[in-house]
Amino acid sequence: MKILITAGPTREYLDDVRYLSNDSSGRMGYALAEAAIDAGHDIILVSGPVTLQPPKNCEIHFVETTAQMRKACVEAFDLCDGVIAAAAVCDYKPITRIPGKIAKTGEPVSIEMIETDDVLAELGSCKKDRWVVGFALEATNARENALQKLRAKNCDSIILNSPKAIASETNHVEIIGKNGKTEEIYSGSKKQVAIQIIHWIEQQQ
Ligand code: CTP
Repeated sequence: MKILITAGPTREYLDDVRYLSNDSSGRMGYALAEAAIDAGHDIILVSGPVTLQPPKNCEIHFVETTAQMRKACVEAFDLCDGVIAAAAVCDYKPITRIPGKIAKTGEPVSIEMIETDDVLAELGSCKKDRWVVGFALEATNARENALQKLRAKNCDSIILNSPKAIASETNHVEIIGKNGKTEEIYSGSKKQVAIQIIHWIEQQQ
């Protein structure tokens, strides 16, 4: 199969030197890309800024902002059989990016922000016969929220994990199907979990 994988965080700039982001290491997405390549699949990896070594034998697009991730994914998805969205996308951006560097004034500042594009929701809405696997990072009401995201983003399944996964070497995931049923639970290093997820996705096709 040809598979699009998103990985890592995105950044949203307030000015040319300051940004909003998160601590995602990109490890889960990169491990999925490596596991899928090892299993013989063609991968297009769209990656936010991370410090990991890029997987070998893989088409990779480095992006910084959510808008750049959206553009790269929309273009790549046309060529793919499915997508695994492992990126920790930055959900808000300052309404305007100020050129240069905002100087201190000694006064409190407020930053007005708006939501960024939802990359996975857009891919889900135009998926046709392609499969869509999302991730859900949930702190509370985990299953309920994950299922709500699965439906809102038109996914075929969603992989529930917790904020403990961010920047960790290990993960504990629950794969939830469209009907809300737990399909599988995997735990271990992100590498081991990735191999199992890829194997599970292969079995669904
Ligand atoms: N996602 C995306 N684009 C966004 C936000 C999220 O593509 N702007 C994708 C993530 O890659 C993940 C899924 O949507 O596959 C769910 O991400 P998550 O961070 O759990 O949820 P959000 O949709 O961001 O919602 P919230 O922050 O309210 O939990």
